[in-house]
Amino acid sequence: MEKLLKIVIENNRSWTKHGKVASYIPELAKANPNALGIHIFDLDCNEFCAGDYKTAFTIQSVSKVIILICALMDKGKETVFSKVGTEPSSDPFNSIIKLETRHSHKPLNPFINAGAIVCTSLVAGDNGIEKFERVLGMMKKMADNPTIQVNFNVYQSEKLTGNTNRAIAYYLKGANIIERDVEDVLDAYFKLCSVEVTVKDMARIASVIANGGIAPWSKKRLLPQKVNQIVQALMMTCGLYDASGEFAVNIGAPSKSGVGGCILSVVPKRMGIAVVGPALDESGNSIGGKKVLEEISEKLNLSIF
Ligand code: DON
Repeated sequence: MEKLLKIVIENNRSWTKHGKVASYIPELAKANPNALGIHIFDLDCNEFCAGDYKTAFTIQSVSKVIILICALMDKGKETVFSKVGTEPSSDPFNSIIKLETRHSHKPLNPFINAGAIVCTSLVAGDNGIEKFERVLGMMKKMADNPTIQVNFNVYQSEKLTGNTNRAIAYYLKGANIIERDVEDVLDAYFKLCSVEVTVKDMARIASVIANGGIAPWSKKRLLPQKVNQIVQALMMTCGLYDASGEFAVNIGAPSKSGVGGCILSVVPKRMGIAVVGPALDESGNSIGGKKVLEEISEKLNLSIF
């Protein structure tokens, strides 16, 4: 397997030249555009890695998966989906346009920024610090890594430049969808996007979801089965924003991307996969990571369809 992963990484490394590292958060522009790495953790706890798998990156939008898990566990399906929809969006991740034009003003789904900010407001905790700690604690459990922490420079950079997210959050407060203090919720969201991880952490998180919500290494249930089902359904339909359909066709595994360059993919009952490649395509998804996943899906027959 490791030999295969090595070949796939080298087959696709040239794709990184066709993408661009995210620069709207200045600190992210420092990432290495040529990096490309992968880690697989299967449900028998075998692990395989190749390429630049040691590269540390910030979790960015992949945090939205764990934020949604916590919101569903803390407030239940009815409450969460009374404030955020379950429909794919054909707009970019930070789009604001549908908030006004949709009759309910609800964000389309939990994985666009608007939906993730609403979900952050729903996570248990009296303030942003407690909400942040709640989600970080879940990330640590799912990654089986108690040392995960925030990259302070990225957090500062996100907070300084996150004005579109501010506009989104204040609009949602005006529409009574966010009931909490907006700056407090945003602070938790910015910190959660800035959590620093590696593909090893992310492959473990994916493996828990692939295993029905149970950690493969301890056999402990970390999230309810129903929550696990909902999260996978939304990853499949909305996880790659306006490229989710293409991803379902070419890879066929519930997945979530982030502008730090990670794509996390869940192969139900088989394995968790995480790739990193900070050069992004026009939808904000790792260009090399997507190509690596396509080739691996083809070679290992990973599509769930
Ligand atoms: O809200 C933002 O702009 C970022 N912190 C997260 C965006 C992101 O990762 C979008 N994913 N492709």
